[in-house]
Amino acid sequence: MSRFVPVAASTDIPPGEARAYVVGDREIALFNVDGTFYAIENACPHQGGPLAEGFIDGPIVTCPWHAWCFDVRTGSMTLGALSSVDAFEVQNDGSTISVSSEPRV
Ligand code: FES
Repeated sequence: MSRFVPVAASTDIPPGEARAYVVGDREIALFNVDGTFYAIENACPHQGGPLAEGFIDGPIVTCPWHAWCFDVRTGSMTLGALSSVDAFEVQNDGSTISVSSEPRV
């Protein structure tokens, strides 16, 4: 059963940036896209690159290792359905950001 795990204060991640957190047994990348937070698995499906350290342009993150691109809102690759990363629900109560322990289905 999924549960929401508090991971950060809403002020911890400025807009246009991301941080990595451990939620249960997963490492997730939490992005602030113009004040809305999105969470995806931090490991790129290509070779495990840390997506929280990628280049961020709006809702698109480019993996820092070999430049695969993902939409942080869905976890989908931007160039088609070649691959994807898990995306997680995020709750923001105005002061604390919480992330679901299980990915969206
Ligand atoms: S590890 Fe991300 S593109 Fe290669």
